[in-house]
Amino acid sequence: HGTSTINDRGHLQIGGCDTTDLVAQFGTPLYVMDEALIRQRCREYMDAFRASGLKFQVAYASKAFCVMAMCRIVEEEGMSLDVVSDGELYTALQAGFPAERIHFHGNNKTPHEIAMAVDARIGCFVVDNLVELHMLNAVAGEKRQKVNILFRVTPGVEAHTHEYISTGQTDSKFGLDLDNGSAYQAIREALELPNIQLLGLHSHIGSQIFEVEGFKLAVDKVVNFAAKVRDELNVVFSVVNLGGGFGIRYVEGDAPLPVASYVQAITESVIGNFKKHNYPTPEIWVEPGRSIVGDAGTTLYTVGTYKDIPGVRKYVAVDGGMTDNPRPALYNSVYEAMLANRADEPEQEVVSIAGKACESGDMLIWDLKLPEVRTGDVLAVSCTGAYNYAMASNYNRIRRPAVVFVKDGEADVVVQRESYENIISNDVVPNRMKQVSR
Ligand code: LLP
Repeated sequence: HGTSTINDRGHLQIGGCDTTDLVAQFGTPLYVMDEALIRQRCREYMDAFRASGLKFQVAYASKAFCVMAMCRIVEEEGMSLDVVSDGELYTALQAGFPAERIHFHGNNKTPHEIAMAVDARIGCFVVDNLVELHMLNAVAGEKRQKVNILFRVTPGVEAHTHEYISTGQTDSKFGLDLDNGSAYQAIREALELPNIQLLGLHSHIGSQIFEVEGFKLAVDKVVNFAAKVRDELNVVFSVVNLGGGFGIRYVEGDAPLPVASYVQAITESVIGNFKKHNYPTPEIWVEPGRSIVGDAGTTLYTVGTYKDIPGVRKYVAVDGGMTDNPRPALYNSVYEAMLANRADEPEQEVVSIAGKACESGDMLIWDLKLPEVRTGDVLAVSCTGAYNYAMASNYNRIRRPAVVFVKDGEADVVVQRESYENIISNDVVPNRMKQVSR
């Protein structure tokens, strides 16, 4: 997919770069991001929304992969950016991302984060609860500003891959319940606050979703609620944000829809539902993360040791693992992989890929078919662009890998490999321990 091919040296090539050359130049583990594919996904969203004729914003959910170069791409593609912490906000601002296109999420924004975002004059806060609402009003007042908000509501729809559940679920750490009066009450309070401009509602129903039914159900609930608010409180919303969650294909058998199909289903459902209530169609915002960057990422590892336990399995260990990709250990996520340096050879054995962290749970892939694996081979794990670098850790004091963007035969480092100095840069040895005994 994307610009990935097998070149005439029999090597995996991405963005016109031979992956074995990338390994020679940058070392392993290495995150390789196909820049053209990231931009293609951005354009798929933007084009599909333009086709709908609605006013819209596509905000990249930066939690999936937040580095300055990525913020530049999002800016260049004309999109907005969703941040959930001071760290993501700082990254975006340092990258020169226009503040008015930044949306701030999260269920526990600290007073410091709120102040930082108000000072930066970001475009919108997605307010999660009443405590936050009043804190935001106070901070905005001190700074003599009026801030735009959406309320995050829980529509009682939970979607995950194939299933969506309409639970009427009230038990969530996120958002205000639509059915039990919490969201309604929050709106009444917001209307009284001088420094708050309520634009509309936000709903996010889950992640890695393949079907459109869950989104349609959420739209239905949100629109019914908006109509009730209009009728009873005389407020007309100008924005409805339907969150992210659009699925990608990690392995054969995953069957996401094309981006355009999700967008079309959502926009049609929005238009139809608002029309039913004779309600002027608001702007539609979405927040895709995984589906912008997920399949653009490939992680390259060097194979180190291996061992065959006769009659049981063959373990093949690579020079990374849960520290650069915690998703298999955390969620039992499954990935596909190939030998990048022998991409044209037939599969000959079934092996399981182990990481190098001191933990039995650090297994990247179970039962993977590969050519006969040898020490020094390069293993390429695909679809690692989302929630991999973003969730990487220094467990075992393993240094985080570099990230390179590849495009048209050129490779640019966008995150340097961590150094030993980085590893100890925040360590402090108290003076009384500085005397080294011998
Ligand atoms: N908007 C909100 C409010 C969200 O909570 C999320 C993801 C998104 C947008 C973007 O969702 P996406 O399009 O990426 O599915 N660490 C997990 C995923 C957590 C998603 C959290 N929220 C994983 O690795 O699968």
